[in-house]
Amino acid sequence: MCGIVGYTGPREAYPVILKGLKRLEYRGYDSSGVALLNGELKVYKKKGKVSELEESVVGKNMHAFTGIGHTRWATHGEPSDRNAHPHLSASGQIAMIHNGIIENYASIKRELINKGYHFNSDTDTEVLLNFIEDIKKNNNGTLEEALRIALKRIVGAYCILLIEKDNPETIIAARKGSPLVIGIGKGEHFLASDASPIIEYTKEVVYVNDYEIAIVKPDELILKNLGNEKQTPFIQKLDMELAAIEKGGYDHFMLKEINEQPDTIFDCLRGRLHAEAGTITMSGVQNNIQALTTAQRMVMVACGTSWHAGLLAEYMFEELCRIPVEVEYASEFRYRNPVIKPGDVIIAISQSGETADTLVALENAKQQGAFIFGVVNAVGSSIARMSDAGAYSHAGPEIGVASTKAFTGQLAVLAMMALKIGYAKGTLDEKRYRELIKGLEEIPEKVKQVLNDTSAIEAIAEKYKDAHDFLYLGRGYNFPVALEGALKLKEISYIHAEGYPAAEMKHGPIALVDDKLPVVFVATKDRYYEKIVSNVQEIKARKGRVIAVATEGDTVIPGMADDVMYVPDADEILAPLLSVIPLQLLSYYIGISKGLDVDKPRNLAKSVTVE
Ligand code: AGP
Ligand code: GLU
Repeated sequence: MCGIVGYTGPREAYPVILKGLKRLEYRGYDSSGVALLNGELKVYKKKGKVSELEESVVGKNMHAFTGIGHTRWATHGEPSDRNAHPHLSASGQIAMIHNGIIENYASIKRELINKGYHFNSDTDTEVLLNFIEDIKKNNNGTLEEALRIALKRIVGAYCILLIEKDNPETIIAARKGSPLVIGIGKGEHFLASDASPIIEYTKEVVYVNDYEIAIVKPDELILKNLGNEKQTPFIQKLDMELAAIEKGGYDHFMLKEINEQPDTIFDCLRGRLHAEAGTITMSGVQNNIQALTTAQRMVMVACGTSWHAGLLAEYMFEELCRIPVEVEYASEFRYRNPVIKPGDVIIAISQSGETADTLVALENAKQQGAFIFGVVNAVGSSIARMSDAGAYSHAGPEIGVASTKAFTGQLAVLAMMALKIGYAKGTLDEKRYRELIKGLEEIPEKVKQVLNDTSAIEAIAEKYKDAHDFLYLGRGYNFPVALEGALKLKEISYIHAEGYPAAEMKHGPIALVDDKLPVVFVATKDRYYEKIVSNVQEIKARKGRVIAVATEGDTVIPGMADDVMYVPDADEILAPLLSVIPLQLLSYYIGISKGLDVDKPRNLAKSVTVE
């Protein structure tokens, strides 16, 4: 994954890079480092978070107008000072940072070792760097030429930035698979993995495409393909405000993002959903209404939380549109040689729009002629750009590693899509369509009610924080919510948790139940309510500790459960938008009561841009 930043222009490069790295830390925080070009080429790097790098350079001369910086999520070699980026080439003349994986690095490393090269790190990055330098030396040519030749032999994914001692003010960049945005200022350029390090300086950006090389100087940006042909940079305007990526008074991004949900869901619906008129405006759906209403099958492709949104979409689309749906883990789908037929619609769901497995799964499906519809949060991201059509979830930048507001944004988009397609297809009658539109419109206000008073959830977190395992159970639309609740708990509080369909419990997991095991039931009022009441009783009969998410006004579940978190009443199709909120908060409060870094949980990264 890794976050990369580069700067060249009239400002001091180090503070710009440092700030950028802090914004990109969500992409990895195993180590960080900078390389500065100021007559000399100096590298400073340190294991751990960016703040540790910052402390380690206090008192050093960091003056330079050109530099590159990196925050790492290790793939090759343990997190350590020596594996931290930037790496220096064997001659010490070139510094490089890299986001991605060089798959054929081992054979290239062997070649280079045979030629007498030594390596200071265990990374694939250092191999690529020396490979480039070796070509440069042999050809007696420029770094740019050597890079072009090297990249033709590289298998894998990369975004790399290079600076060279004898080439002042210049950053050379290349990408395939991993993202790169270049911000265009007046006599200065900013390079980064996403726009967050750039927006405070300029809103004009260029998204570099795969197989492009950028030669960046303070007042010049040249883009070329690997065939050395110049490409015209496509300059776009960023639609993002700085406040959106700052904590705004909250202790953690995760809490801020959970609390933003009334606004983010509202923003997602705004301009699209018109309850009075009974219309849903989504140009990506409208322009492809024929393909969508006649789809023979829909395949949801995603990972993690986005995969849970896909599962919910399966329930929605099958019910409202009568289209068969499959939900696929992108990592399995991409390697399985799946059967894709004409009439299939692939729906890609991704917050970052950069998840490597999802991206490649889509590329494969596209080659087989599938129509790709992207439900993506990050505007301008790779998945958004490669989709044939799409709808953004408009949740704004999500910085906390645990996905919260992006998930509810995805659900809001998928619900609108299912409603619009079902209505156009005639599988959803006018009355139910209107009912659901109205219900959806009321969701932001109801989310606000859940967030109004979270003291009960905080107390529950305190009570159960020392448990070693949790079981999360739900039926129907609440089953994917149970999975999502369990995932949140695992990643934020490091407590083992499993989600199950409530009825499936009797086929094995019930053996785990004793007087210590907390069992979270997502038990809002829906068509399965009576059934889930029985499941709660089954757990209570075995002395399990029941925590329930229940509908306000319910008296039955609260009479049985040990603890209850309430949500307002909503149609069962829309209820997950509410029932997931207490589960997000439960994992947040357990995480902080255990003193954990909820925004950057161990071993994780926000955007998984490697396989
Ligand atoms: C969610 O809390 C996770 N950290 C993770 O599962 C995430 O949802 C997954 O990596 C998919 O990311 P994407 O939505 O950016 O594609
Ligand atoms: N493969 C490089 C490393 O291990 C970069 C990792 C990444 O992009 O996550 O250092």
